[in-house]
Amino acid sequence: MAELLWTLTKKLKCNSLLRVSFLLLLTLALALFGYRFLKLKMQKLETMLSGPSMVVRELDNQQVVNLSRGELDNQQVVKVSELLHFQPNLLLPSRGDVLVLTPWLAPIIWEGTFDIDILNEQFLLQNTTIGLTVFAIQKHMVFLRLFLESAEKNFMVGHRVNYYIFTDQPDSVPRLTLKEDRQMVVLQVQNYSRLYDISMHRMEMISNLSAQRFLHEVDYLVCADVNVKFSNHVGVEILSSLFGTLHPGFFGLTRSFFSYEHRPHSQAYIPESEGDFYYIRAFFGGSVREVYRLTKACHQAMMVDKANGIEAVWQDESHLNKYLLYHKPTKILSPEYLMDKPLLKFSGILENRKQHYIPVRKNHQAHQL
Ligand code: GAL
Repeated sequence: MAELLWTLTKKLKCNSLLRVSFLLLLTLALALFGYRFLKLKMQKLETMLSGPSMVVRELDNQQVVNLSRGELDNQQVVKVSELLHFQPNLLLPSRGDVLVLTPWLAPIIWEGTFDIDILNEQFLLQNTTIGLTVFAIQKHMVFLRLFLESAEKNFMVGHRVNYYIFTDQPDSVPRLTLKEDRQMVVLQVQNYSRLYDISMHRMEMISNLSAQRFLHEVDYLVCADVNVKFSNHVGVEILSSLFGTLHPGFFGLTRSFFSYEHRPHSQAYIPESEGDFYYIRAFFGGSVREVYRLTKACHQAMMVDKANGIEAVWQDESHLNKYLLYHKPTKILSPEYLMDKPLLKFSGILENRKQHYIPVRKNHQAHQL
């Protein structure tokens, strides 16, 4: 009996020992598994946090390194830039300091919000032709050479461009040797003496020519003032059905500061309680169809104003603002597209930013003439 009890006790002890050892082993295995799992998660978090600066470095340096793909799978040699397109990261907004999307979901184009290589590829595939309209009338002819030379260097590089030059002095148009796939069309217009007449007829002529000619020759129209210089890249990122450019003078201001037309008897009237942005006349555009609609509407409104003996406070710009308030643009160019340094210093907001995209720059001499 005593022997039986002793055997039973021994068996029980042995079982408990086994159970304890099993539990110990299980805890050890769980701890190891947990450690590896946590480590993986931490690594993922670290990658997420360090990711953007890597991307920025790659973009900043613009390095194109030849990698032997043999290291990866076969012996093909490809460019790293082709492999590593700037991958969008849902958790990292491209710009944290400014609005990049309007409430009607139109992108606002700022430096660092787009990858020009992807866009170039898309627009080249569509065989896009862009028309650039400009008016060089009377004394404004002096700006045309710089306008064209800078456009040759920085406007829509790599794409087909037609320059449409409206002028009262066709013989004074500088004869430049244009890049391949670019042509210049000189269109003679009347010599209007008043700025208001020039601006009114600018709208009229663009709309007339859109229907008669541009519709058959180009896909997009960009309408620019002649006293601007393309001092940096202006490419297909600006193209959309209808686009306007934010006036740098009203950057960050509320609508009460916008110089809209507030007199109700003008066709450009905008009530004090309305307004999204203040757009500048110096740079707008879109598809030929949309530019036709815009310029036709503005011209008709200006004609009604003229018949009623009223001139909107900023002429065609007031009408453009009214149009874009009620026909929301599908893309908006940030004031980076039309900035001049004195204004930058004045606002102090973007002063320290890398001046990479200040493509179109207003030439102050225009106002001195
Ligand atoms: C001025 C500009 C004018 C007009 C005005 C609107 O800075 O020279 O052309 O845009 O702002 O308030």
